[in-house]
Amino acid sequence: MSKEKFIIQKLHTSSKRDYLKRMNNNKAKCMNVSQKFDKNYWDGDKKYGYGGYRYIKDRWKPVANKIIKKYNLKNNSCILDVGCGKGYLLYEIKKILPNIKFFGIDVSKYAKKKAHKEVEKNIKIVNASNKYPFKKKHFDLVISINTLHNFEINDLKKSLSEISRVGKKSYIVVESFRNNIELFNLQCWALTCKSFFSKDEWKWIFKEFKYLGDFEFIYFK
Ligand SMILES: C[S@@+](CC[C@H](N)C(=O)[O-])C[C@H]1O[C@@H](n2cnc3c(N)ncnc32)[C@H](O)[C@@H]1O
Repeated sequence: MSKEKFIIQKLHTSSKRDYLKRMNNNKAKCMNVSQKFDKNYWDGDKKYGYGGYRYIKDRWKPVANKIIKKYNLKNNSCILDVGCGKGYLLYEIKKILPNIKFFGIDVSKYAKKKAHKEVEKNIKIVNASNKYPFKKKHFDLVISINTLHNFEINDLKKSLSEISRVGKKSYIVVESFRNNIELFNLQCWALTCKSFFSKDEWKWIFKEFKYLGDFEFIYFK
């Protein structure tokens, strides 16, 4: 049974964001650069994305701990992170459960190159809206944080179906809004988002696309 979770809220709200500055900074052109998910997106100027996405010790630890607890992960579990980026969450989970089996998939060769060595070797460059190179129900848990809203709706359908196919359980996080202020802020901030849906629309989509896993929304207040 699909459930809304509240795992990543604290980490998401800990970052300060100047919405209007981004909107007024040649945003449409910047989006073309950001959507390559290359060096500029991760470690270039803030107008293209993260503005320097470095490993900060323990930043992902509370999220890793919550996921481990809620999904009862053990050293013999097997997990997949869809859109894992530089793999920091996987690294943090592996620090707590050193023998866990894991994979990440992502389109960004740059992000993979920047991952910790022990994680990098398990990151596959795969477009997450194509078929995943894993068997049915291979993973105890499939995680996907802040990735799926980057797809247009047809690709979103394919990725949700692949996540359900390869995972026994899943937990995904997407950007959303509950009112016009949050919609406005999201539209100002988002450089790579293609699926702008309210919380209720997302829930409708999950049902319509037969996604039965867990989900969480982040908002831009
Ligand atoms: C906002 S970042 C989130 C990264 C990571 N999950 C995190 O929370 O740190 C979005 C991620 O989605 C990846 N991505 C975007 N489009 C993708 C696609 N079609 N297939 C796989 N990964 C994709 C990007 O390269 C990037 O790593």
